[in-house]
Amino acid sequence: MTLRALGEAEGIPVGAAVAAGPLQANARYWRILGREFGMVTCENAMKMGPVHPAPGRWAFRDADAIVAFAARHGQGMRGHTLVWHNQLPRWITGGRWIRTTLARALDRHITTLVRRYRGRIGAWDVVNEAVDDHARPRPTIWRRVIGPGYIEQAFRSAHAADPDALLFYNDYGAEAAGRKADAILRLAAGLLRRGVPLHGIGLQAHLALDHLPRWDGVRTNLRRIRDLGLQVQVTELDVRIRLPVTPAKLRAQADAVRRLHDLCREAGNCTAFVTWGVGDAASWVPGFFKGYDAGLLFDRAWRAKPAYRALLGPPRRMR
Ligand code: XIL
Repeated sequence: MTLRALGEAEGIPVGAAVAAGPLQANARYWRILGREFGMVTCENAMKMGPVHPAPGRWAFRDADAIVAFAARHGQGMRGHTLVWHNQLPRWITGGRWIRTTLARALDRHITTLVRRYRGRIGAWDVVNEAVDDHARPRPTIWRRVIGPGYIEQAFRSAHAADPDALLFYNDYGAEAAGRKADAILRLAAGLLRRGVPLHGIGLQAHLALDHLPRWDGVRTNLRRIRDLGLQVQVTELDVRIRLPVTPAKLRAQADAVRRLHDLCREAGNCTAFVTWGVGDAASWVPGFFKGYDAGLLFDRAWRAKPAYRALLGPPRRMR
């Protein structure tokens, strides 16, 4: 049994984010990626800074390589991400913009990228992290210059460029019902009322083992998303462990991964379960969260961890 087979059996593909570097350098990395995962997303290669470094100048090499790998291995693709406030190119952050010029630049960006991969990317993270940690609209360059309508514009541009792609709003810290999740649901409901092509909510699920969400709150939230008629996908799962990593913590991590997966299966509208990397040897966690590590399903030597076995474990009764 592999995660890939599990995903096929349950109709919820298990995926991984891929960075082009390790993909080329390490044979075990891509062997695991091809064998274990039914879905792939680019960790960085489709973000605006990397892929669109100058106006009208594109750097598709890494993104193309990842898309080709997924096609060769019969894997689905998630596109990440069209509108974000991080990893922007200098020509955007340092440009002199007025509403109409920035709106046009954003539309061109989205249209070019989504068209290029039309038919090969099943779901796009159209807008990423537009709600801040106080549950307020994040004052990004997009919002400051274009106004709150940038979100609606982005979804409409993406839909026009590939009418078959599922379009997601993606964010962190909104796994369980709470202030931020409320704000996102309000945003989503407003978009739907205006007929904006929004199909799902991406829950990043960058979790910390010592601050796990309340699982009943996650269940409630998944139900609320379903009640809006939207899909939900776990888009960037890792469960980081505060050092030192111990067998007990790895078991607790396994339990957390399994619980989230159980809730996803139980929800009925959960259509992907994607981890933010293939293994701990190539994970953003140690670089971004001081004192934490080991958030993924494979360890630094590419061996399967308890969390991997928990996903594949014997058939489960719903909790
Ligand atoms: C991270 C990547 O993993 C890093 O390699 C990069 O340096 C910064 O971005 N939320 C997101 C992802 O939506 O795009 C981020 O990915 C992690 C947080």
